[in-house]
Amino acid sequence: MKKQEVSFVLFGGTGDLTKRKIVPALANLIHQGKIRDDSTIIGISRKKISDEEYKKFLLDSVKEDRDKSYIKKLDIKFFTGDFTKSGLSGLKELIEKSEKPGCSRIYYLSTSFKFFPDIVKELKSQNLHKKNQAFTRIVFEKPFGKDLKSSENLDKEIHKVFLEENVFRLDHYLAKETVQNLNVLKFTNPLLYSTFNKEYIESIEIIVDEDQGVENRIEYYNDAGAIKDMFQSHLLQVLSLLLMEMPSALVYDKIHDEKVKILKNLEILQSKHHLLGQYESYEKEAKVSGLNKSKIETFAKIELNCKIKKWDSVKLILRTGKKLKRKFGQIIIKFKPMKNNGNHLANIADNKIIIDIYPKQDVSIFMNTRSPEFYNQVKQAKFEFCRECEFGPNTMNEYATLLHEVIKGDKTLFTRSDEVKESWKIVERIEKMRDQIKFIKYKDNSNPEE
Ligand code: BG6
Repeated sequence: MKKQEVSFVLFGGTGDLTKRKIVPALANLIHQGKIRDDSTIIGISRKKISDEEYKKFLLDSVKEDRDKSYIKKLDIKFFTGDFTKSGLSGLKELIEKSEKPGCSRIYYLSTSFKFFPDIVKELKSQNLHKKNQAFTRIVFEKPFGKDLKSSENLDKEIHKVFLEENVFRLDHYLAKETVQNLNVLKFTNPLLYSTFNKEYIESIEIIVDEDQGVENRIEYYNDAGAIKDMFQSHLLQVLSLLLMEMPSALVYDKIHDEKVKILKNLEILQSKHHLLGQYESYEKEAKVSGLNKSKIETFAKIELNCKIKKWDSVKLILRTGKKLKRKFGQIIIKFKPMKNNGNHLANIADNKIIIDIYPKQDVSIFMNTRSPEFYNQVKQAKFEFCRECEFGPNTMNEYATLLHEVIKGDKTLFTRSDEVKESWKIVERIEKMRDQIKFIKYKDNSNPEE
């Protein structure tokens, strides 16, 4: 693909996400030769800073000299504007003066979802929503709303201005190596595909543990909590990909149709194993930020069932949390024991497949094998696919992958509106049960389940 003439207009341009994810992704795209090194970047926020100061902010966002040299060459502009108060007048002139002729444009909204409708309205009122010849696309960071109603309203407002084909709802988990590998593993290996159903599988657990706390996002997090921050998006996306049936074609709509079928059929179990928790120092962190004591969860473990015949009765467990013992992510698929065979043997263990999400992206299969030491005894053996040994270190930059998909106009790695809505419905069902779920305080950097 030839280098794209794209300009990036970043709302929330001085935010944490711009610094941590978007700027390194832009450097990565230049390095890969996917965008021009003199591309235009226009940052927007309420801050009053000059173009030079913004350039410094972007330069400080990358560590390596190579990336700094890429950022230096970019054509960087800054626009001070309050998008809640018709504050974008003058932006059109700046964009048009800065962009190369015939250039396409990407609006990237990494602000709170509360500002999405205002920004979209302002883009329209400034006549910035359409371009001749080249494309105009708009990317929305997660969360897409705070509940079902607000996400539906967002869609309504957005569709008044932009065509759905140009709307990209971002969930960076969909660009993770492991998550992209799920369908390949499932649909190209009869060994896995044939056993991937309730006949053979007892439970599926998706774990995304983090060792850091909520850091400087406490204001957002104090309203959201782990369920809205992580379940609604990342965990339900991974689960739906894992359970979905083979689509009739590997195209955007067919893949998303299959995912939606799963989401529509998920139900929360009436289980005493659900658990919510909060790390001990959270209360203090909230107080320092002037927030009231709250029972928001920084840890959640919820059990679900999928009513689709193929999966009905397989226990689905989603677990995530902050300030836990270590940062790691895994999908653990546990098989049912064999019914009759092998019962004359001792020590038979359950078969298991573990797919690592983080820090590795390995796949391990645990099976029984004969123990050479003892007659009639079985030992568990691990069959391991080490991704790094096979393909070298994973240097993939998830945000660069996603930005490149936006440029290509391929929405497969983005969430579709009906998926987002179904996920919010699941969250609402959990919210209704909240009072019946055990809530604990856990020590910082511990495992709440121990
Ligand atoms: C974000 C959440 O979407 O994902 C954060 O808002 C979380 O709270 C982050 O820390 C985790 O992403 P990753 O890629 O580090 O697992």
